[in-house]
Amino acid sequence: MSLLDAARAVRENAYAPYSKFKVGAAVRSVSGAVYSGCNVENVAYPEGTCAEAGAIAAMIAAGETELVEVCVIADSPQPVTPCGGCRQKLAEFGRGDVTVRMATVDGPETTVTIADLLPGAFDRSHMDRT
Ligand code: THU
Repeated sequence: MSLLDAARAVRENAYAPYSKFKVGAAVRSVSGAVYSGCNVENVAYPEGTCAEAGAIAAMIAAGETELVEVCVIADSPQPVTPCGGCRQKLAEFGRGDVTVRMATVDGPETTVTIADLLPGAFDRSHMDRT
């Protein structure tokens, strides 16, 4: 299954009763395995957790820590870009040159890199004096 197909399939399971905005994401790890996640909202925190965060959490839970490819899909006029928090999570587990394919259910899509999404990312080197 392609990463896009995995993201499209898991999006069907998104739990988004507050925003009504379903998102699916899938990451491929360095081992080649695919991990997927959808957004999950709740009444106290209706913004919930993002699909990208869910896919990353699944990868970490499986014991892997490096992603090499990312895909996210939603039903939106233009491709949905990961939120700020998810950009930092992507930068934690993927190199700057990792591609992030942002797709829509009906066609339009864009591919960027993690470095495009989070230029000047805060990383471990900033703490070299600690
Ligand atoms: N959302 C994601 O899952 N990923 C994104 O990249 C943007 C936003 C979700 C969070 C929330 O459940 C809904 O979309 C509206 O913000």
